Amino acid sequence: MLAALAAAWSLLAAAWCLLAAAFLAALLLLRRAPAPRPGGAGLVISGLFQDLIRYGKTKRGCGQLPGWLRLLQVPKRWFTHFYVVSVLWNGFLLICLFRVEFLGESLPSWIQDMHHALGRDSQSKDMDSEHFSALLVLLLLWLHSCRRLAECLWTSVFSSGVIHIVQYCFGLGYYIAVGSTVLCQVPTNVRNGKKLSVQICWYHIIGVMMYIWASLHQHRCLAILANLRKSRSGKVVSLSHSVPFGDWFESVSCPHYFAELLIYVSMAITLGIHNVTWWCVVMYVLFNQALAAVLCHEFYQKNFSSYPKHRKAFIPLVF
Ligand SMILES: NC(=O)c1ccc[n+]([C@@H]2O[C@H](COP(=O)([O-])OP(=O)(O)OC[C@H]3O[C@@H](n4cnc5c(N)ncnc54)[C@H](OP(=O)(O)O)[C@@H]3O)[C@@H](O)[C@H]2O)c1
Repeated sequence: MLAALAAAWSLLAAAWCLLAAAFLAALLLLRRAPAPRPGGAGLVISGLFQDLIRYGKTKRGCGQLPGWLRLLQVPKRWFTHFYVVSVLWNGFLLICLFRVEFLGESLPSWIQDMHHALGRDSQSKDMDSEHFSALLVLLLLWLHSCRRLAECLWTSVFSSGVIHIVQYCFGLGYYIAVGSTVLCQVPTNVRNGKKLSVQICWYHIIGVMMYIWASLHQHRCLAILANLRKSRSGKVVSLSHSVPFGDWFESVSCPHYFAELLIYVSMAITLGIHNVTWWCVVMYVLFNQALAAVLCHEFYQKNFSSYPKHRKAFIPLVF
């Protein structure tokens, strides 16, 4: 049992775990941080901390930012860039993996180097179903990025909200890292020209069904947010924030974050449930989205006195 766990553990799993731990620590710190004394060094550190964990509407109401911090903000609408990078990078990886699996070609040498450094041991068991799982998850990730890009361009209505430049750079790196993590889940260097025979398993079907269900809800919730700023004819009439109703908004403040978590869980199922590295990615998404949801929930409670009391922040009935 221990040996199996050790074999499943990788540098990538450790890195994702570390990131998850950083977001969990930020979540705990947010709950316990004492109010800093005016003028003290604590105020600068606390301001920097708040600036790094908040973005968009949750940045409002935490005081005017010092001049030098204001210089480091970029428009939140630049979220679009994350998905442009993801569509291009993960599309490229998808084509590479497809050619390896179905045409018997090799990966480009620089990707092989990355794979050697971070990927699965080439001596580990090499099964067709695992190769197909990774290909399917890379396809799901790419489709997810395409949908999010389309939503950023044609559905969402952005205000003048901002994000910190560190968050922006992190977001760009995130989608490169997440696709590369999927690629590293197969020992691609041992196929020796052998072509993949597709084996569809029960977990592929359940994973894909859950992915479609969560994606539909995420899209509906993002459309509800966009419609708050549009007239019946679809014209943008306001850029303010108001209280959303409908779909999963009836249970939680941030159903689109909950749907994001479900999408990553559905990928873990598609990978066959046992993939430790991907569960570390899921843990990262859980704490990252929980932190954003707690801040968003507080924003609604602070700004709207009649905000529905029964709504949780992130996970229906739980949290
Ligand atoms: N996997 C990850 O690591 C990760 C990280 C972050 C986000 N995401 C995903 O990306 C998606 C978008 O995330 P996000 O943080 O940008 O969501 P968000 O802050 O809720 O914003 C989504 C859109 O709705 C608008 N909006 C938000 N609240 C509103 C309100 N009360 N009234 C009217 N309009 C409102 C926003 O405009 P403004 O903010 O411009 O005002 C923006 O256009 C989510 O599905 C999330 O799960 C994933």
